[in-house]
Amino acid sequence: MCGIIGCVGRGERTADTLVSGLETLEYRGYDSAGIALGGSKLSVCKAAGEIAKLKTALGSRSMSGEPGIGHTRWSTHGPPTDENAHPHADCTGDVAVVHNGIIENYQELRAELDEHTFTSETDTEVIPHLIEAELAAGTDPEDAFRAAIARLEGSYAVVCLIAGCDAIFGTRKDSPLVLGIGDDTPDGQALFVASDVPAFREYTDRVVYLDDGEFVRLDDEWVVTDSDGVVREKSVETVDWDPEETGKSGYEHFMLKEIHEQPRALRQCLQGRVDELGGSVTVDELDNLAPTGVQFVACGTSYHAALYGAQLFREQGIPAQAFLASEYATAVPPIGNDLVVAITQSGETADTLSALREASRRGAETLAVTNTVGSTVARESDRKLFIRAGPEIGVAATKTFASQLLALNLLVLATTDASAGEVVPALRDLPGQTQALLDDSGAEAVAEQFYDAPAYFFIGRRYQFPVALEGALKLKEISYKHAEGFAAGELKHGPLALVDDRTPVFAVVTGDDEIATKTVGNIKEVEARDAPVVAVTDRQNDAAAYADHVLELPETHPHVGAVLANVQLQLVAYHIANRLGRPIDKPRNLAKSVTVE
Ligand code: G6P
Repeated sequence: MCGIIGCVGRGERTADTLVSGLETLEYRGYDSAGIALGGSKLSVCKAAGEIAKLKTALGSRSMSGEPGIGHTRWSTHGPPTDENAHPHADCTGDVAVVHNGIIENYQELRAELDEHTFTSETDTEVIPHLIEAELAAGTDPEDAFRAAIARLEGSYAVVCLIAGCDAIFGTRKDSPLVLGIGDDTPDGQALFVASDVPAFREYTDRVVYLDDGEFVRLDDEWVVTDSDGVVREKSVETVDWDPEETGKSGYEHFMLKEIHEQPRALRQCLQGRVDELGGSVTVDELDNLAPTGVQFVACGTSYHAALYGAQLFREQGIPAQAFLASEYATAVPPIGNDLVVAITQSGETADTLSALREASRRGAETLAVTNTVGSTVARESDRKLFIRAGPEIGVAATKTFASQLLALNLLVLATTDASAGEVVPALRDLPGQTQALLDDSGAEAVAEQFYDAPAYFFIGRRYQFPVALEGALKLKEISYKHAEGFAAGELKHGPLALVDDRTPVFAVVTGDDEIATKTVGNIKEVEARDAPVVAVTDRQNDAAAYADHVLELPETHPHVGAVLANVQLQLVAYHIANRLGRPIDKPRNLAKSVTVE
């Protein structure tokens, strides 16, 4: 998804600051990039493709000036070309704009601006032309920016630079924008505006989250105003992760680093919420919450966590259902007194946000289960449960999924009559068991044996069903291999037709109850079709006896077994993709945070 960075007070380092900020936003997924520098005349440089192309283009010309703005674009209107890359300028070249989101009325506005020359196919380009028209009518720069924004319908985070003006202007609606408040330097106070904190985290840990409809002006100070121009008091918050956390720390890929960060992420999620002695769970944010019904809304990996969460609630006799957020918003089910829980690692997924808003509009109590404290979903929900996984850079979600599953256990323990019994000790052991699995997994050898298979299947029941779906999603996302996850019992109702001796089946089966016995039965069905079987199991059942390979799991509570099984499948996906030489952290066509519906 698109990324924005803008800075003032960086003097001669402005261009470098913008480019390195854009590099930290690469993980969001993009297909072109560009920057604009201020002064009496603006200079703009942009290029389709990777940031390396932008750097080459910058290297061939001497560009200087400040302040500056930059952008990584993920195409929505018009293909990824140099012309469609941001920043976009007006006819005079005196206005440059970067934008995330979608301007829904851009065609109407473009028709109205028929005397202007447009050079791109984007919806964004109407913004600089609207500002140009205001400036031509004698409006001052800040008011011209406001007047142009007032014309827009849709979602946006917009940052703008105007020639001869030493300020940058920004605003947001349904797309995140955050300020970074840096230190005083010989060039003045360094101030930043970005779509994501990592873009400027290297320079400051002090941030101000903008709300929808707020405007900001950054020059030698920062001023936030509402849409009427009235100054808003904003609190400066401190982010508690250091820039190191967004580096690779010696790992070949962010994804591998983040898989290995899971023990720490899980510990952070538990911290202060689980009583070490009594085994009770207290989550302040969930005080006095006792849902009688739950509707989960989520997308992608978070939807798999939602399926798991719904199982946990149903086990306590509380009706609960997981919905794909994009479907929820199109046909909202009766909500009654249900709690609506949005699960989203980024807190910015447009589909999840619109499902949440739909539920809020209908009067539902809402809860965000998210990793991102200042995110829109967090701010718009009545309650929040932060999963505390730390920043996740790899596009494919790994540690955030593990932390979501753990947080959902805490949610159920804190808000229902569920007995802490065996669950809490198992949750406390989870970080250590995860570490042991990471130290000795066996997944790489399995990947080596099966990396060239034409297709892969993943099966599991109950808590292992979402894990089977997630295992398949992880593999297809980063290896581009065909992979499907199924409820183990459903395999024989169709997908079994696809199973042959070249299609490995990963069967996740833990414990020795009736459910495990049934899954072992499903393993026999695929084994009879000569499919290679990889059992992901704690050996409490007969799965290993019918499998060609075993990925070991420790014996534990079934809720926790799902988290551990998923670690094995993450590693399988990673090693297959690595063996195939795929760009693991930035898979083709995918974005980390999808802010369009
Ligand atoms: C994108 C990502 C997926 C992610 C999904 C939901 O599609 O590529 O990895 O699972 O968004 O993201 P969220 O931030 O809402 O959890």
